Amino acid sequence: MSNNDNNSRRKFLKLAAAGSAALGMVPISNVFGSANSEEEIPFKKVASRKGKSVMGLRCEPLKTVRIGLIGLGMRGSSGVSRLLQVEGTELVAIADVVEKAVKNANKLITDAGRKPAIEYTGEEDWKKICERDDIDLIYQCTPWLLHTPVAVYAMKHGKHAAIEVPAALSLDQCWNLVDTAEETQRHCMMLENCCYDFFELNTLNMARNGVFGEIMHAEGAYIHDLRWLKFMQEGGYHNMWRLEYSKIHTGNPYPTHGLGPLAQIMGINRGDRFDYLTSVSTSQVGMTAYAADKFGATSAFATQAYKLGDMNTTVVRTVNGKTIMIQHNTTSPRPYSRIHLISGTKGMAAKYPVEQIALEPKAHEFFKKEDYDALVKKYEHPLATLIGEKAKKVGGHGGMDFIMDYRLMYCLRNGLPLDQDVYDAATWCSIVPLSEKSVLARGNSMDVPDFTRGAWKEAKPWPVVTIE
Ligand SMILES: NC(=O)c1ccc[n+]([C@@H]2O[C@H](COP(=O)([O-])OP(=O)(O)OC[C@H]3O[C@@H](n4cnc5c(N)ncnc54)[C@H](O)[C@@H]3O)[C@@H](O)[C@H]2O)c1
Repeated sequence: MSNNDNNSRRKFLKLAAAGSAALGMVPISNVFGSANSEEEIPFKKVASRKGKSVMGLRCEPLKTVRIGLIGLGMRGSSGVSRLLQVEGTELVAIADVVEKAVKNANKLITDAGRKPAIEYTGEEDWKKICERDDIDLIYQCTPWLLHTPVAVYAMKHGKHAAIEVPAALSLDQCWNLVDTAEETQRHCMMLENCCYDFFELNTLNMARNGVFGEIMHAEGAYIHDLRWLKFMQEGGYHNMWRLEYSKIHTGNPYPTHGLGPLAQIMGINRGDRFDYLTSVSTSQVGMTAYAADKFGATSAFATQAYKLGDMNTTVVRTVNGKTIMIQHNTTSPRPYSRIHLISGTKGMAAKYPVEQIALEPKAHEFFKKEDYDALVKKYEHPLATLIGEKAKKVGGHGGMDFIMDYRLMYCLRNGLPLDQDVYDAATWCSIVPLSEKSVLARGNSMDVPDFTRGAWKEAKPWPVVTIE
């Protein structure tokens, strides 16, 4: 291991320790250490709820959503640009440990004719932002290990929490988010932007209108060749956090881009819930091959062990007898895909590699262009109709990021329940530790906790929402 590696690992451990200390309750081993330790099976002994359920939570409408944005790297800086274009928002405070990132973000704010945000640059300054009394929402785009600690601290200080994906990495963290949201009655939303992509919204609308019949099976993925970014030593991920995580963990560390839209379509936590999963991974070969090619076969990057398999495949079964297959692969040279395949008793849709639909009575073939276009038009989601064009102009993964931000701010300003709640965040993220446990146990099945503590039975599936 080079000095550089040692240095970045020390920073990584420090970051994790800061996060754990802030919680005062999550042992560091649960954050990125022994994923198969006994304390990682809390669903066997689910404690009773301390607060009230937050299913369908409505909070006081906010005239202006006053935001504290933490983490101004690749994702956070684009978040600043987007949020500046959403009406009824104010960026009150911004934080990053890299001063230049804070200055650049504030320039975006002032260039847009807004008041400069208050700047923070200390490692633990996110606590100071959470403690302020002029902020409603903590919007967080930090590396993974900080997500739950910051969100919990934010809610405990009366703020709503919006967290980049994945919101949690261990079952303890998943429960901590749920328990804190219930105790504090604050919103906690994971910013799963893929739920707002055009085809995903479209197929949700079709599903709610019965186009696919009863949906029995779905497939999603995060297949994205990120080798170049994972191994970028300068200008990439802060302290190479994604590569560091790959050294220590297997399973699927990033399941929600594929899973989130499918879970919403299939009414997970609203009429159905995840029962158990089984998960297998290939060996790790691709990162080492890439590192050997780029840095030399004897380089630290090429000789380092990585636990993350090239491809992980997880299958979840629901209590109503449906299945969802989720894959993760950020290593193999292949085109991007989230699959987004939905299969029901009347037909199917799939997004990658090309958007296609096949329906009864001719489901042996995909729709021809004219029929496809007509169906897509008929079931265009109202959010896409209303702000789709503006979203495409603002950008952010083709517009979905803006639709997400816009809808989030609309809900907060109107006192509406959020489209993704803390139960969704916890359930979707529980795939991270449970897939790892299953992989380490030769694919043995792992029960998925009911984070709603039974509320899923009465809750209604997420409707086709809109804005006025
Ligand atoms: N939803 C999406 O489509 C999407 C896309 C990219 C990234 N992400 C998520 O966004 C998050 C950030 O990813 P990224 O690509 O921007 O990574 P990044 O490394 O570019 O950004 C992280 C930023 O957090 C800052 N940071 C680290 N410690 C901090 C601390 N203690 N206080 C304040 N700031 C701190 C870093 O300096 C860095 O600027 C990750 O969780 C990632 O999974 C989501």
